[in-house]
Amino acid sequence: MFAALTEHQVETQTLARSIAERLRETVVAADRAGRPAEGVAAELASAGLLGLCLPRRYGGLGADYLALGLACEELEAVDATLRVVLSVHLALHALGIFQWGTESQRERWLPALARGERLGMFGLTDAGAGSDPANLDSTAQKVADGYVLNGLKRWISLAGQADQILWIARTDATAPANEGLSAFILDTRTHGVSTGPIEGKVGLRAMHTGWVRCQDVHVPGTDRLGDEGEGFKIAMACLDNGRYTVGAGAAGTIRAALRLSKAYAQQRETFGRPLATRQLIQQKVAHMARDYELTRLLYLQAGWLKNRGQRNTRETSLLKWQATDTAFAAADSALQILGAEGYSDAQPIERIWRNARVGAIYEGTNEIHQLIQAGYALGDRRDALLRCELPAYDAQAWS
Ligand code: CAA
Repeated sequence: MFAALTEHQVETQTLARSIAERLRETVVAADRAGRPAEGVAAELASAGLLGLCLPRRYGGLGADYLALGLACEELEAVDATLRVVLSVHLALHALGIFQWGTESQRERWLPALARGERLGMFGLTDAGAGSDPANLDSTAQKVADGYVLNGLKRWISLAGQADQILWIARTDATAPANEGLSAFILDTRTHGVSTGPIEGKVGLRAMHTGWVRCQDVHVPGTDRLGDEGEGFKIAMACLDNGRYTVGAGAAGTIRAALRLSKAYAQQRETFGRPLATRQLIQQKVAHMARDYELTRLLYLQAGWLKNRGQRNTRETSLLKWQATDTAFAAADSALQILGAEGYSDAQPIERIWRNARVGAIYEGTNEIHQLIQAGYALGDRRDALLRCELPAYDAQAWS
């Protein structure tokens, strides 16, 4: 399974690394100022990363899903917000349309998303339902020529910036909770849509996060994604893609924590010897090295399954849980190694540590992921084939 990376995958890695480095100063300054960085999406778009693993016929770069994971690691090694933009726009939004859209929806929406002329976001979390989205309150009432949307989505990444949202709402109040939801592709300039920021976040300060409200918003029936009642499955399938990118990105956080720890521990002396010679410091570094390798193996496995068109709900959930827990632990250990030096924004570890904290909260809390894993381990949870699987990667068809 883990043959050497292909030329295309290595090129993507190099490309993402250079774009991330180019954006480093911008995002660090924005984080310090506590305002979203400008120009990030444009820079990612100019390199083609916003359409990285979409086929060329839809305006994408034609790379495979493993290349997406590799790009996420490189982006997050500089700043998690760079990776979140890609996760939300490409993995949670555009791939959702690629997976579940009709051919005419793909042709209508994907080229502008792939080229970054439009940005997409993911609207699942309601004001009153985060871990339990089957019971969300947003409604979509059927009318003669479409639907009328009402509801408030909270903690939406890219709110206030993105041009369109995958909006999940209840179309049938009488059906069992997860069977009564439907998904819509909604242009945020539609009359009745409003957005606002969520201020004072612990981390991810260099990007937009906010709320999106729909008040009697009309969407044509042609903008429903998938069948009526398929909204929950669509959202969960999008999360399989999103969680993959979160996990792969976390490898970048661990790598950054390890690099900073190594540099500091090798030059800083205590009691006449470098910190790196102390066993308690070595133990922390060893954990980081172990967790980096494990995270990388897990995301390569999940990406490999995606390339084959195989459902990977179990693997992406496990990856997301393991990767984000260990990424925060790595950031915390690195901050401890740097001591007082690490406890101010003079050192990047302070920003990395704040950014890493949300990993255990978004895209399913890590408590939810433990329940999912327990379900698989106990045999209570089995994955059936979906009506629309994420298409397997096909180098010829993608190019
Ligand atoms: N893909 C497709 N279908 C799926 C699926 C998946 N990954 N997971 C479940 N389904 C299907 C099931 O097969 C089942 O269908 P059938 O009845 O036909 O068999 C149906 O959906 C119901 O599944 P469950 O019984 O598993 O549903 P549940 O209600 O028991 O709970 C849950 C599922 C795992 C707790 C789920 O609610 C969950 O993952 N919660 C966390 C939500 C989440 O991740 N929110 C993140 C918000 S977005 C965000 O953070 C992004 C951001 O802005 C950065």
